[in-house]
Amino acid sequence: MKFAIALILAATLPTPGTQFKQLPNGKGKAEVEAACYACHSADLLAQQRLNEKQWTATVEKMMRWGAVVAPEKKDVVIQYLAKNFGPGNKFVPTKVKTQ
Ligand code: HEC
Repeated sequence: MKFAIALILAATLPTPGTQFKQLPNGKGKAEVEAACYACHSADLLAQQRLNEKQWTATVEKMMRWGAVVAPEKKDVVIQYLAKNFGPGNKFVPTKVKTQ
């Protein structure tokens, strides 16, 4: 039984050496990393498919929840997220990727 559980775990965990998602380079990347990495991995951000309006609502929600985004940085953060993780985004997080 223990062996079966270990097998299931081994099958679902990313294999050693798996590269986790890095945020793509671009204007706003540093601001997003500073504001969002305190609570999220890049994967959580990169798997979204939100338009600019939805990203605005999400960033404002996160600011209410404790994300530190200076008022003058808010726009660059939203633009970066909407540009890279918009409705056309194809990224699938590692843990749900099929073989
Ligand atoms: C103080 C901690 C904290 C920070 C900083 C933070 N978040 Fe979140 N975020 C949360 C929590 C808590 C949730 C809800 C639980 C979850 O889905 O992980 C969440 C959920 C999300 C979700 C999932 C969808 C949703 O609306 O619930 C997205 C997308 C997201 N955050 C984006 C961001 C972005 C972008 C930033 C940076 C601007 C950010 N977060 C910064 C705490 C944080």
